[in-house]
Amino acid sequence: MELNFVSSFLLIAPWFLLTFLSYAETSTYIIHMNKSIFPQVFTSHHDWFKSTIHSIKSKTLVLDDHDHDQQLPKQSQKKLVYAYDNAMYGFSAVLSSNELENLNNMDGFVSVYQDRTATLDTTHTFEFLSLDSPSGLWHASNFGEDIIVGVIDSGVWPESQSFQDDGMTEKIPSKWKGACEGGQEFNASMCNFKLIGARYFNKGVIASNPDVTTIMNSARDSVGHGTHTSSTVAGNYVNEASYFGYAKGVARGIAPKARLAIYKVNWEEGLLASDVLAGMDQAIVDGVDVISISMGFDDVPLYEDPIAIASFAAMEKGIVVSSSAGNLGPYLGTLHNGIPWLITVAAGTIDRTFGTLVLGNGQNIIGWTLFASNATLVENLPLVYNKTLSSCNSVRLLSRVNKQVVILCDDKSMSNSKSVSQQINVVAETGVLGAVFVSDNPDLIDPRHLYSPIIVIKPKDAKSVINYAKRHENPTASIKFQQTYVGIKPAPVAAHYTSRGPSLSFPWILKPDIMAPGSRVLAAYVPNKPSARIGTNVFLSSDYNFMTGTSMACPHASGVAALLKSAHPQWSAAAIRSALVTTANPMDNTQNPIRDSAYPSQHASPLAIGAGEIDPNRAMNPGLIYDATPQDYVNFLCGLKFTKNQILTITRSSSYDCENPSLDLNYPSFIDFYSSKTRSKIRKFKRTVTNVGDGAATYRAKVTHPKGCLVTVSPDILNFSYKNEKQSYYIVIKYVMYKKENVSFGDLVWIEDGEAYTVRSPILVASSEMI
Ligand SMILES: *[C@@H]1O[C@H](CO)[C@@H](O)[C@H](O)[C@H]1NC(C)=O
Ligand SMILES: *[C@@H]1O[C@H](CO)[C@@H](O)[C@H](O)[C@H]1NC(C)=O
Ligand SMILES: *[C@@H]1O[C@H](CO)[C@@H](O)[C@H](O)[C@H]1NC(C)=O
Ligand SMILES: *[C@@H]1O[C@H](CO)[C@@H](O)[C@H](O)[C@H]1NC(C)=O
Ligand SMILES: *[C@@H]1O[C@H](CO)[C@@H](O)[C@H](O)[C@H]1NC(C)=O
Repeated sequence: MELNFVSSFLLIAPWFLLTFLSYAETSTYIIHMNKSIFPQVFTSHHDWFKSTIHSIKSKTLVLDDHDHDQQLPKQSQKKLVYAYDNAMYGFSAVLSSNELENLNNMDGFVSVYQDRTATLDTTHTFEFLSLDSPSGLWHASNFGEDIIVGVIDSGVWPESQSFQDDGMTEKIPSKWKGACEGGQEFNASMCNFKLIGARYFNKGVIASNPDVTTIMNSARDSVGHGTHTSSTVAGNYVNEASYFGYAKGVARGIAPKARLAIYKVNWEEGLLASDVLAGMDQAIVDGVDVISISMGFDDVPLYEDPIAIASFAAMEKGIVVSSSAGNLGPYLGTLHNGIPWLITVAAGTIDRTFGTLVLGNGQNIIGWTLFASNATLVENLPLVYNKTLSSCNSVRLLSRVNKQVVILCDDKSMSNSKSVSQQINVVAETGVLGAVFVSDNPDLIDPRHLYSPIIVIKPKDAKSVINYAKRHENPTASIKFQQTYVGIKPAPVAAHYTSRGPSLSFPWILKPDIMAPGSRVLAAYVPNKPSARIGTNVFLSSDYNFMTGTSMACPHASGVAALLKSAHPQWSAAAIRSALVTTANPMDNTQNPIRDSAYPSQHASPLAIGAGEIDPNRAMNPGLIYDATPQDYVNFLCGLKFTKNQILTITRSSSYDCENPSLDLNYPSFIDFYSSKTRSKIRKFKRTVTNVGDGAATYRAKVTHPKGCLVTVSPDILNFSYKNEKQSYYIVIKYVMYKKENVSFGDLVWIEDGEAYTVRSPILVASSEMI
């Protein structure tokens, strides 16, 4: 199944390979410059950058004026792709390797790296956060009114009901400086009081392949991803939204009154760092409050990661950036966006499923199907279960049976047994009408495979179906479609696919931060692309579609961040993240620790779920927050011995110093590594908490020790006498050789005496050899 996952989000890869082959001599590079030495002779940064490029090229070609450019080979004429002044300081340009060498000698040069491809965090194709409580965050934040969320994605389908502005006030916040750009099939008048901005950035894609034809050259979404994520963050209320009758109800975003600004950087033709930087650069000047970005760059150091670089600038301005952890789970160390100044979101399941299997004896079994037809196709048909057929691995054998049956596919004893998805394909090919498949992990089944009238049930339910089929002389079964069940237990469960920490680019902080719903999220979709298939040749579109991935989890967190920003306008990005982390729920709806669908017998570790499932209403009143200033992040980078250039790449030319290097960042969680050869190790962390409760309060520390560790907290009582008072404490984690597990975890919870607030931080200790 991993293969299926990987191939679905690497569909764009072959195109990139081609690009690299045909333009091997030149590439787009991203160049960071030192803003402090901007030469006053230039009237703009743009002019300086152009001049820099010109001088590199002339040095290389020994041709020193414009006229000669005419005779140059096409590739040498390439120029500035983008100038950046907000998300980073510098530019992107198409350069040859010779030209690249000359860069080093240019005044103000800081660093350079090649443009690179981002990974989109959706694997396949779909809520339960208690926001509707009358005293909850929705009401406290007035549903996110006056907050602008910038979505960096594949654009938007402006006609979707989710982006209409019914009920939105006409008072767009005065700080808004964005625009609605017209383009192919996108009229500038398509924006409104909900969708207040739409822009697109594809110069990077074009620079990397000048012959490319852009399929949709505007902010219009042609793939569905951006429409889905934008409507998840801040879609308006839409009655009777459903996917072919499934999950029918009022669709709405997490912050239904927030405004949306769309930055399209993800193209069918490619997804490049230079375009992502341009989109974030613009979002920052346009005046967004929250940036939602469901994509990431794998295997890049922090100082070459466009999202890390751009989100630092955003964080300085108080903009909250929420990002997806990636879909390369369940393996450890697969996470991207493990960046200290943004929110990294993991994906979990929700408590919802669809469809029922009804046996002839009246037994009802809730299963999982998304078959897009309401026809009663599978009604009281003979139920077939036998050793030869039920392995469902042979088209030849199955073709011989009567088509008007329901076949139960469940036989794992055969050496050549197939995966459930393969079995589904086999059955579909034979034209057998109904089928029942058995899997304890519906996450593994791509809904696009549910194109025939079938249902998936859990192994624990399969037993009674088998017993019934064996013991009855004429067993029959029916499958009911378009039924929605909520309250399924346990939920949430960490999704199989969600990428796991630690962050390889930056392992010193615990990532992901939190988990949010990511599996089978229903949200707006594009009508130009089929979202369902019946049989082999009937394709249907739907305005709402289920999608799955950390891409879908991220906009849930972005929406909650927007609500928090509205309820607490003075809070920093770090304060908002702290509130989300310390109030997250580590328990599922059975009141047991959240499980991991990749390892069903295990509790999910903070490397999978961070502090746990996002809990918006509790995040509104966290009691204490762990705040951090931009200089605190820099102190941390200094403590880790990042070079001056690496730090400047991230901070641009702002006035940060390395006078107080520190190995402690005031982060709301703890992570430490040991070598398996170490007998014991002691690590001390200092933390400062700010009392954001109503006034005087006393908090007591309660520790759950990770296995193999002894954790002490001092002081273990914190007395606050007024609001916004700060208090510090030390936590010492003493690890004593523990060979049984490579990862162990616990937590520190500050409990307020009246129990009005509990402030929880996960603690994780891991073997450094494991990653
Ligand atoms: C944009 O839409 C407006 C209103 O529907 C219309 O008057 C105008 O002609 C359109 N412009 C373009 C370029 O299509
Ligand atoms: C089934 O779907 C079709 C097409 O969407 C619709 O016209 C019909 O009324 C539906 N039938 C039932 C029984 O819901
Ligand atoms: C950037 O320029 C300023 C002013 O010349 C200089 O002090 C600083 O060291 C430079 N930074 C780097 C990383 O080169
Ligand atoms: C904090 O308050 C508690 C209860 O009011 C009191 O017993 C304790 O001595 C105080 N601790 C400090 C350090 O002030
Ligand atoms: C811990 O990790 C090491 C290195 O990957 C591995 O050999 C060992 O089996 C792991 N131990 C446990 C208990 O998982």
